[in-house]
Amino acid sequence: MDGTQTQAHRIPFNRVACLGRERDYLADAVASGRIGGGGPYSARVRATLERALGVPLALPTTSCSDALEMASVLLGIGPGDEVVVPSFAFVTVAGAFALRGARIVFADVRPDTLCLDEERLAERIGPRTRAVVALHYGGVACEMDAVLGLAARHGLAVVEDLAHGPFASYRGRPLGSFGALACLSFHETKNFSCGEGGALLVNDPALARRAEIVHEKGTDRTRFLAGAVDKYSWRDLGGSYGLSDLQAAFLLGQLEQRETVRDRRARLWRRYDAGLAAWAEAHGVARPAVPAHSGPPDHLYFLVMPSAADRDGLIEHLGRRGILAVFHYVPLHLSEMGRRYGGRPGDCPQAERAGARLLRLPFFTTLSDAEQDEVIDAVTDYVPRPAGSGRCGAD
Ligand SMILES: Cc1ncc(COP(=O)(O)O)c(C=O)c1O
Repeated sequence: MDGTQTQAHRIPFNRVACLGRERDYLADAVASGRIGGGGPYSARVRATLERALGVPLALPTTSCSDALEMASVLLGIGPGDEVVVPSFAFVTVAGAFALRGARIVFADVRPDTLCLDEERLAERIGPRTRAVVALHYGGVACEMDAVLGLAARHGLAVVEDLAHGPFASYRGRPLGSFGALACLSFHETKNFSCGEGGALLVNDPALARRAEIVHEKGTDRTRFLAGAVDKYSWRDLGGSYGLSDLQAAFLLGQLEQRETVRDRRARLWRRYDAGLAAWAEAHGVARPAVPAHSGPPDHLYFLVMPSAADRDGLIEHLGRRGILAVFHYVPLHLSEMGRRYGGRPGDCPQAERAGARLLRLPFFTTLSDAEQDEVIDAVTDYVPRPAGSGRCGAD
């Protein structure tokens, strides 16, 4: 599901590459002897994210899942609370809050963007709801005006899941700057990577001081390192959430190339869309939709096939040509854990449709035009069963 290679493919789903000064920075970190968390490279990653995203505080973390866990701790989520999450999402989007004892409530996604369906969100909110996770699927923005409006009316915290879309925007403003908190991923399958890594963006100033404590194992070590206190001690709940400086060094090299990376990936997205449009229209295959006020997508390119059999058939067809395409999330409400929270078939029809019929094509920064053309040719050689047609959501 995460694009892990299980067999040799000539054109893999994902390929991580050094794009700038990653190796130099890594060697420098090793030579400096400072490779733990909270070192100089972490500080530079933090400053880069804060500046580029216009957020007051960015804490580099061991993963996006851990940033989500931090969010759960910071919001004081506990037994008796409910958290609304999109069903078409990665497991830890729910698991981070379940770990703190929350009841998970699953919301459906829009048929066109596969982001949280803002029109159906209200029906999932009840007296115990404390927070909602807005996952910007594929780096395409959720309808943040509607989500934030609803959250404000009900007194809910919004946590943005920005694993797919760092540096993407909504109405010209960076994603990650809208919710009280936002979570980024730097896992190897993401646009920028250090193997495993993430960041927590803290927009609510009331949470900032505590966020630094939770991040530092529940201690005030950050203030100690800044010379504000003469020793540090256990102050609150917390975990070992800081990214090591080895990983931060590699990550900084990647983040510094963000303009090149974004341009290249946005171009790949447009080439897929243009190259597959006629075939998709002819065969009832839905392509991703991008609302005008969402920044250009650059994380993944998906197709929603007319049937689950067609989806599996196309993955096999591409596999025979040495191309690895992959499906994505198993809807959370249908998972073993999701059913324990009351999830039933039919609860989130669009998540179920995407879970059964969506596939993602190879998509990585160093995918060459020739490789991409080969993927496009292979896809357009495939003939699904006839059905409706159009953009995602039109069928
Ligand atoms: C939307 C989303 N959120 C969170 C995560 C978890 O990220 P990480 O592997 O950095 O914990 C993933 C992982 O793929 C994801 O797709």
